Amino acid sequence: MTSSTPEKLTVDGDRLWQSLTDLAEIGAYDDERTGLRGVNRLALTDADAAGRRQVIAWMKEAGLTVRIDRMGNIYGRREGADPAARTVLTGSHIDSVATAGAFDGCLGVLGGIEVVRTLNERGITTRRPIEVGVFTEEEGVRFGTDMLGSAVAAGRLGLEYAHALTDRDGRTLGDELARTGFAGPVDARLDPPYAYVECHIEQGPVLAENDVPIGVVTGVQGISWQEITIHGRAAHAGTTPTRLRADAGLAAARIIVRLRELVDSGDYGDLRATVGHLTVHPDLTNIVPARAEMTVDLRNPDDVQMARAEEALAAFLHELEGSRPGLASTTRRMAKTAYVPFDESVQKVIAQAADDHGLAHLSLLSGAGHDAQEIAALCPTAMIFVRGEYDGISHNPREYSTPEACARGVDVLATTLLRLADQD
Ligand code: GLV
Ligand code: MN
Ligand code: MN
Repeated sequence: MTSSTPEKLTVDGDRLWQSLTDLAEIGAYDDERTGLRGVNRLALTDADAAGRRQVIAWMKEAGLTVRIDRMGNIYGRREGADPAARTVLTGSHIDSVATAGAFDGCLGVLGGIEVVRTLNERGITTRRPIEVGVFTEEEGVRFGTDMLGSAVAAGRLGLEYAHALTDRDGRTLGDELARTGFAGPVDARLDPPYAYVECHIEQGPVLAENDVPIGVVTGVQGISWQEITIHGRAAHAGTTPTRLRADAGLAAARIIVRLRELVDSGDYGDLRATVGHLTVHPDLTNIVPARAEMTVDLRNPDDVQMARAEEALAAFLHELEGSRPGLASTTRRMAKTAYVPFDESVQKVIAQAADDHGLAHLSLLSGAGHDAQEIAALCPTAMIFVRGEYDGISHNPREYSTPEACARGVDVLATTLLRLADQD
């Protein structure tokens, strides 16, 4: 860094907030359930593409050199004094679930751009280049595998696997990349950065409950996603005796209840289980369901306990099949990631930055999945969490962090990036 480099960097919170609210208008909708304005920017939809174009425009305005890889991941690069030095990378995602707020992922991307704007204004040249990344389909709700763009960038998943994934209408990710103009020319495998730091809202209650503004993230718990299809037999609702039914809907309901029993038993560590998608076919009032399709999302910080929970679920499916003639099930793996610990030295830089900004912090494990857990395979990585309001609710239009909370989180990001970018 230049000799005039400050010890710490404070960003323009109003400008950051303006970017967050401007981006939230892209894909905005009026949410009937909450009466709030939500965000729907599923990956590689027209709304996501419009959001990406806006982010690229902001990157270019900030003087970043933009490249797009074959997964549609976007990187904006600010050169350092030593362009051969490995890059300090920050970023996140701007795709959203269908009922999102303005912050999930966007804070990390727009925070990264805000850091660059601040470096520009202060005339700071870092030793290492700094890049801001925007990863494709982090949410995994359109094409069924989460952290997809970063997983391909890190080499855990292959480009062909990712391109062949389909949404519920049968459209492939590869075709949607081409349609939206984001099938970039650059190799999707990322050269290992020097370090990766991601700023993200906590999406949980811990920071608020402890009245602490900053979280230093120690790692991400394991995630298991499966799609289960129950095959039963369609039959007349009025005439078919209960003893002759193979009711796929009932079997699905029993799976949901069983998952909750696994959680409540306490026998599988700190297990969380969610069935967020369930449809029955033919989906008509007077027909016993012939088929049920459901997703199962399991989370566990302990990989051994996660494996035991998956085995218990598989055993229950087997039991269900045996419980009625005509009932069968098939399971498809959608996504699976192990517990990922973050780098302690990067956590220390973050904690020191928070101290230097006079911000209290605590260390916590991430309950949600993040691009950082993939990039952690390439380089020392950690995350900064920003406190959320309303119990940290997320994946809901109520998701909210105050302008002050966002600005302070990005201050910590700025100082952390500045210091990492100056390391030899
Ligand atoms: C990402 O939002 C996740 O599902 O954890
Ligand atoms: Mn996110
Ligand atoms: Mn999310």
